[in-house]
Amino acid sequence: MVTRCGARETRPTSESWWREGVLYQIYPRSFADANDDGIGDLRGITGNLEYLEWLGIDGIWLNPIHPSPNVDWGYDVSDYTGVHRDLGTLADLDELVAEAGRLGIRVLLDLVPNHTSDQHPWFRERPAYYVWADQVPNNWQSIFGGGSAWELDAETGRYYLHNFAREQPDLDWWNPGVRDEFDRILRFWLDRGIAGFRIDVAHALIKDNELRDEPSAEDRVFSMNRPETHQILRDWRRLADSYDPPRILVGEAYVLDVERWARYYGSGYDQLNLAFNFGLVHADLDAAEMRAVVAATEMLLPEGAWPGWTGSNHDVGRLTTRWCDGDEARARCALLILLTLRGTPFLYYGDELALADGHVPPERRLDVAEPSRDPCRTPMPWSRHGGWTNPWLPLEDTSRNVEEQRTDPSSTLHFTRDLIALRRRFRDVRLGSYAELPAPEGAWAWQRGEGVVVAVNLCATPVEIEGIEGAVMLATNRARESELVRGRLRLGAAEGVIIVAPEAK
Ligand code: GLC
Ligand code: CA
Repeated sequence: MVTRCGARETRPTSESWWREGVLYQIYPRSFADANDDGIGDLRGITGNLEYLEWLGIDGIWLNPIHPSPNVDWGYDVSDYTGVHRDLGTLADLDELVAEAGRLGIRVLLDLVPNHTSDQHPWFRERPAYYVWADQVPNNWQSIFGGGSAWELDAETGRYYLHNFAREQPDLDWWNPGVRDEFDRILRFWLDRGIAGFRIDVAHALIKDNELRDEPSAEDRVFSMNRPETHQILRDWRRLADSYDPPRILVGEAYVLDVERWARYYGSGYDQLNLAFNFGLVHADLDAAEMRAVVAATEMLLPEGAWPGWTGSNHDVGRLTTRWCDGDEARARCALLILLTLRGTPFLYYGDELALADGHVPPERRLDVAEPSRDPCRTPMPWSRHGGWTNPWLPLEDTSRNVEEQRTDPSSTLHFTRDLIALRRRFRDVRLGSYAELPAPEGAWAWQRGEGVVVAVNLCATPVEIEGIEGAVMLATNRARESELVRGRLRLGAAEGVIIVAPEAK
């Protein structure tokens, strides 16, 4: 299809799919339930691939799907090459990957290399894979619940390290046996056609070999963030690159300081392909704050490296709640930003509906962490009735749901879909450079490539931005689409637009 601006509709293929595409995070227990036992499953995902294709998604990342005692809902793995029986079977996963592939959707799994479950056979059969001490050796604190990260093991009378829950002993990445095991695990999945991995706490793998005290619980430089971790990522990148087509590594390098975070790409861009930018995640939906994170990212990322953007996940909560206090107009501004910055956007299931965090009463709390992350893990509302029978976490508010928004062209779901389609159509939106433009306080404007301008007003009063020319191709306030802007752009409160110059591609 050739548009009036001469742009072609293209679907990213081959090696650059992850740079050009839109990724979508699925929390498998909460996405869709095929056998009606109240727990989302792999066949539920397969059954709804059509929805993701309709939305324009290019790849999905599944939170851990492996056997697990579920102390931390899959992040305590007891078998890295199996599938949790609640979620289905290996055959179900193969079918999901094959079906998704037919629709042009790649599948990423979640790799949890920092720790296992204490129920993993390695914990008893290969104790040398873990980090042990005869006495509590330092001041390291567990991230869940505080308190010492060292736990006395009654069986051996020694202490083992757990940066997270006590049922999640940390692996000892100085041990070559651990490295070999994970090489096998990576190959097992990559050989099955998995497009890559999201790597859990990618910054944490190696611990200081002298187990030195941390300067403070906020500044963890010995229990994680060790320089030697980079070599592991480099080795995995080489492995992922050796596949045809190359597979990708997306890192959860949970580092807010942009300079330190950028190191996980490697100075030769030889480590992570993508990393979630937690600087942006933890900024407010505020023009000055976000602009500063993006400017730092553009400046500090190594040559060629590609940013990864998200506003929601299963830990931090949903962007509609965190950034927007539930307000749909602001959620559209957030989506507009995530999908038009230079880099790869990750949507969290429900973001496309402006879904807010759910309500989980105290007696139904299931999360090991405090504050509870359950509210951002509640089931996907497929319809006004929910589409679930007795789901594992409650689904109370279905006012923003797929069925109703899909039939309503003015919905946020359609807005998101149109935004994704526009990305596909305009190469500049997918791949063009980022250049900030002058904008008054409270507003933010930038140019992508040669001819696409994005402008958003994040404050509560109208603003005017000077020097902007072109046609409004997409707007959070959809009535404005097709408006021509000649020099001065007026934006109301919580309003954003994409403007395309006549010649842009
Ligand atoms: C990561 C995961 C989180 C999990 C933790 C421990 O931060 O995203 O959900 O609890 O690692 O595995
Ligand atoms: Ca089920």
